[in-house]
Amino acid sequence: MSRRDELLAYANTVKGFMPRDEGLALYEHALAQGERVPAGTWLEIGAWCGKSAIYLGAAGEASSSVLYSLDHHHGSEENQAGWTHFDPALVDSADGRLNTLPTWQRSIARAHLESTVVGLVGQSVVVAKHFNQPLDLLFIDGGHGRDAAWADYEAWTPKVAPAGLLLIHDVFDDPAEGGRPPFEIYQAARGSGHFIDVAQEGSLRVLRRV
Ligand SMILES: C[S@@+](CC[C@H](N)C(=O)[O-])C[C@H]1O[C@@H](n2cnc3c(N)ncnc32)[C@H](O)[C@@H]1O
Repeated sequence: MSRRDELLAYANTVKGFMPRDEGLALYEHALAQGERVPAGTWLEIGAWCGKSAIYLGAAGEASSSVLYSLDHHHGSEENQAGWTHFDPALVDSADGRLNTLPTWQRSIARAHLESTVVGLVGQSVVVAKHFNQPLDLLFIDGGHGRDAAWADYEAWTPKVAPAGLLLIHDVFDDPAEGGRPPFEIYQAARGSGHFIDVAQEGSLRVLRRV
């Protein structure tokens, strides 16, 4: 099995919310971006257990790019006890808090992607204030509430380099299918004059900085 096939097969087994067709689209667009700009700096907001990091990391490894995978690792609102996406297996028995960091670390180690995928543990906007490297690829899949999604958009999209790729997850045209904030920031990016549409797959939207 090729390294590519091995990584894409492994990504499919990791816990997460990324449908297969969207994960493969993430990989393909990142791969094309890596061919345009080798050795790029990439960042994802929302690491969870490492699923999207492996799709992106597979493309990153092929182009000698580095993916920063950012998360505070305590889950979003909908991941907490009593909510729809709660997984009791991810609760740290030491303090009763959700903690996806050990699972994320195991996922990246098992994929042998530790030289390509680098974890950043903290709140998105705090890290953004001290992160000055232009981004050749930014994937937004962090908090989906209004405040979190807009804060990510405002803090991180200005860091996308000219011709850099902006990918946004969970964008639903129909409000009956999912929450509004990812859709709103996607519309804001398009309306800003800084980004143009490149593609879409399911709820994944791909834009490029002009
Ligand atoms: C939908 S999950 C990410 C899924 C992941 N991209 C995947 O495909 O496997 C959203 C993640 O965003 C993280 N998150 C939410 N708000 C955050 C914030 N303000 N700063 C850092 N991480 C945050 C949560 O902890 C959660 O792990």
